[in-house]
Amino acid sequence: MSDSAREAPPRHAPSYPFTVLTLFPDMVRQAVAHSIVGRGIAAGRLDVQAVDIRDFTTDRHRTADDVPYGGGPGMVMKPEPVANAIRATRERQPGARVVLMSASGRPFDQATTRRWADHPGGLVLVCGHYEGMDERIAEHYADDEVSIGDYVLSGGELAALVVLDAVARLVPGVLGNQASIADESHEGGLVEYPQYTRPPAFEGHAVPDVLMSGNHAEVARFRREAALAKTRRARPDLAARVVEVVIDKRRPANPSRPARLGRPRPGDDQ
Ligand code: ADE
Repeated sequence: MSDSAREAPPRHAPSYPFTVLTLFPDMVRQAVAHSIVGRGIAAGRLDVQAVDIRDFTTDRHRTADDVPYGGGPGMVMKPEPVANAIRATRERQPGARVVLMSASGRPFDQATTRRWADHPGGLVLVCGHYEGMDERIAEHYADDEVSIGDYVLSGGELAALVVLDAVARLVPGVLGNQASIADESHEGGLVEYPQYTRPPAFEGHAVPDVLMSGNHAEVARFRREAALAKTRRARPDLAARVVEVVIDKRRPANPSRPARLGRPRPGDDQ
């Protein structure tokens, strides 16, 4: 989505629909009541429904888990209640993308966030618990399976809230200052440039002079270089990708001389 498309939400535009399927709906309801997502809901830009998977069980004990076939520790989420919950939600929210939260999914990233913010049917986020979920849900009922990082959470709710927050803030009209999206971390393949505010010196640590110079070109150059240096330090994997893209773009003009991005600085490679 272009920034100008994000800037002006049409009046009376439908709100972006999220449904979270979970065994702990109150955890989701409480979290989305705050901050930017809470304001987006109050303003009618977002609609968030937390649905209890247990409401789709069919036995009188409302059983959502069972022992794993083949043995092993822990319990596995049964497929029937989850599949029933997904089916009912697809009927209520046609065209939705159904995403399973799972430590074994593909990595969730900002490019995915942008794509999903543009998805007209919205998102259904499915949260696992216990030792995992019957694999048939990922194979036959979900459209996607994503992980928010290489660690294991005790449930998918926090992961679903991460995805919901990252997508919601890109929905037109949710963030106050849409211009800031273009500058922030991961939008240009780099982390964001460092930000400072008053006071100019804090406990002996000064704000870089150039930021107080009023010279916009110099400020822009400082920010570009600082973002690249910080990316090299904190995320060498991302920096390598940016350098590859730049070299690739320059290669046809002068194939014998590889291009370098910016000035290397002491400590950049640590
Ligand atoms: N459920 C458990 N761990 C998870 C992770 N890292 N990402 C998404 N869902 C999860």
